[in-house]
Amino acid sequence: MVSRPPHKIAHVYRSAPVARAAVAGTAVLALALTACDGGVHGTPGGSGVRDAYFPKAGNGGYDVTHYGLTLAYDPDHRRLTGTARITARATKDLSAFDLDLKGLTVQGVTVEGRRARFQRAGQELTVRPHGELDKGETFGVTVRYSGTPRTLTDPDGSKEGWLYTADGALALGEPVGSMAWFPGNDHPSDKAAYDVEVTVPKGLQAVSNGELKSTTTSGDRTTYHWHTAEPMASYLAMVAIGHYKITRSVLKNHLPVYAAVDPTQEAASRAVLAKLPEIIEWEEYNFGPYPFSSTGMVVDRGEDAGYALETQNRPVFPGAPGTGTLVHELAHQWFGDSVTPASWRDMWLNEGFATYAEWLWEEDHGGPSAQQTFDALYRGEDENVDPEELWAFPPARPSDAAHISAHPVYERGAMVLHKIRQKAGDDAFYDIVQGWAAAHRHGNATTADFTSYVEKKAPGKDFSEIWKDWLYGDGKPARP
Ligand code: TRP
Ligand code: ZN
Repeated sequence: MVSRPPHKIAHVYRSAPVARAAVAGTAVLALALTACDGGVHGTPGGSGVRDAYFPKAGNGGYDVTHYGLTLAYDPDHRRLTGTARITARATKDLSAFDLDLKGLTVQGVTVEGRRARFQRAGQELTVRPHGELDKGETFGVTVRYSGTPRTLTDPDGSKEGWLYTADGALALGEPVGSMAWFPGNDHPSDKAAYDVEVTVPKGLQAVSNGELKSTTTSGDRTTYHWHTAEPMASYLAMVAIGHYKITRSVLKNHLPVYAAVDPTQEAASRAVLAKLPEIIEWEEYNFGPYPFSSTGMVVDRGEDAGYALETQNRPVFPGAPGTGTLVHELAHQWFGDSVTPASWRDMWLNEGFATYAEWLWEEDHGGPSAQQTFDALYRGEDENVDPEELWAFPPARPSDAAHISAHPVYERGAMVLHKIRQKAGDDAFYDIVQGWAAAHRHGNATTADFTSYVEKKAPGKDFSEIWKDWLYGDGKPARP
């Protein structure tokens, strides 16, 4: 039984969403240049946003507002043909700017309809527009490209980017894989709206984020148009191409559900798909209103990948998921997809919350209490978590890029939330959780934003030891 008083839900509309976090440094630079008039004054935008873990990810000098991706894919020849129409706003005077793109061949680039010079080096596609772009100006970039997209290997050895499946492909992008299938600003700090049109041989389906706006068959090819209005980080963009059993329904709260399941997984997926409405309802009760205009799931397996990912609106699973995994990936819709980390260092804000959601689900459904889960971890009695790994580094300071999805980020991150709950009490804790999701809805946030938010919401309490020992401290804290 769920025991939280229903009045909690009423709090969630209280706070206005905050503007997306500015890319560090760029605002200051641009200010210094506004005094110039005429002549050459713009400078290149920069080839990264200085992410501590993925320094080349993202780009400086602009902010994307919309991606219009027109893709055609031929699975027999593994050939992707794409046109990316990117709408962006310059955050400084620009003589040139970079997009992230790995592999593929670029046929041409235009800026504001005029042919632009471009150059490629590693993952940087540097574009030199015909004329300079002024700070504050909104501009359109079109990139035409094609080729056989690459499967990328992450620092931790897992595969992302363009994954090949038995009957098509699966494009996944955490942390830096979207650059394998479209050019863009591939960093979580730059969220944007998307329209993704995918043309595939007739008989195949193409699934993406957001809502399906149209399906058009012409000759022997079908085009699926998917629209995402709410801001989305590039690592959450997804395309799944293949044969699927499609299930559509509508939840009691009117949320449309679109689920695409590989036929080999259909029987096993039926029971868990039937649980989706109850999970969303429970999560809305605990976290506040669902942040997007549709939900669902994709079950399909990339040849090299066997992990789940919280792709926006509909998470991807490599096979029929268990209830805990579905609870986890759907919780990410609030924590990760709507409230997105400002940098990869803040990853625990995603995984700590999604893991704690699993503990809370267990607690509310006859399993161990969150306290019992916490205690087992602290004592080293959780058989799935090697204690040596758990205490290897603090949640808010992963040791390196290969460890952003390790136990300290997931389980120790969840332990931080449990410590906050112990200190604040249940009422204040659920106010914090819902208020946090509301305050940064559709935006970005840092760990520092989170700790100051907690302190603001529970003014009489001292959280400094929790931050020091549990969030930032090396090694196992002396007391549970
Ligand atoms: N975010 C995924 C989850 O928890 C796990 C994951 C998949 C991941 N690929 C990743 C985490 C790459 C970090 C980096 O459900
Ligand atoms: Zn997760």
